[in-house]
Amino acid sequence: MKGKFITFEGTEGSGKTSVIKEVKKHYELQGYAVMVTREPGGISISEKIRDILLNKENTEMDPRTEALLFAAARRQHLVEKIKPALDKGMIVLCDRFVDSSLVYQGYARNIGIDKVYDINYFAIEDALPDLTIFVDVRPEVGLKRVFQTPNREVNRLDLENMDFHKLIYRGYLELAKKYDRIKKVNGEQKIEEVAKEAINLIDKIL
Ligand code: TYD
Repeated sequence: MKGKFITFEGTEGSGKTSVIKEVKKHYELQGYAVMVTREPGGISISEKIRDILLNKENTEMDPRTEALLFAAARRQHLVEKIKPALDKGMIVLCDRFVDSSLVYQGYARNIGIDKVYDINYFAIEDALPDLTIFVDVRPEVGLKRVFQTPNREVNRLDLENMDFHKLIYRGYLELAKKYDRIKKVNGEQKIEEVAKEAINLIDKIL
């Protein structure tokens, strides 16, 4: 039996990581085998690529280089970790996937959603998510959360300005309109409520 591939997307501080934890707990209690992962998934090749991507010193990085590196890291994570779990029939919950590239590199960095889709299609072939949950939190609310979290590591991409974050948010809204597989949940509620909305959506595809 083939499993279900569910991805979570959102702006910085949207709380998607906490939502994923709640969702995992819920389905494990129901007896499902669940794997949580996030790009780059602990895959050695992908981790090395990520180090280059998030290094604050790499200020000269060209947007297309960035897009290609994210796609390369994604490919390796997919074949080494995600596909084997799906083949075993597991529910795979993945924190960010192809839509992050479509929004950050395609929309916000202005390469174009379709161009970034093309290189990602090369990377993932037909392995699109069965469902993508967009945790909808307005950018000002999300960023406030980010900077109020103690000891949170601030990476190269967090340091972009407020306009960039607003652009990301708009990009996600646009993508949600474009692709039927992307569903929105209201991320400005208590975490249990957000998780409940996500679970209702997942139940429909199980
Ligand atoms: P991460 O620490 O995973 O952030 P978060 O907790 O918000 O998921 O950092 C990943 C950063 O990389 C984040 O700013 C989004 C960005 N990103 C892209 O620009 N393109 C991509 O394809 C992916 C997966 C992430």
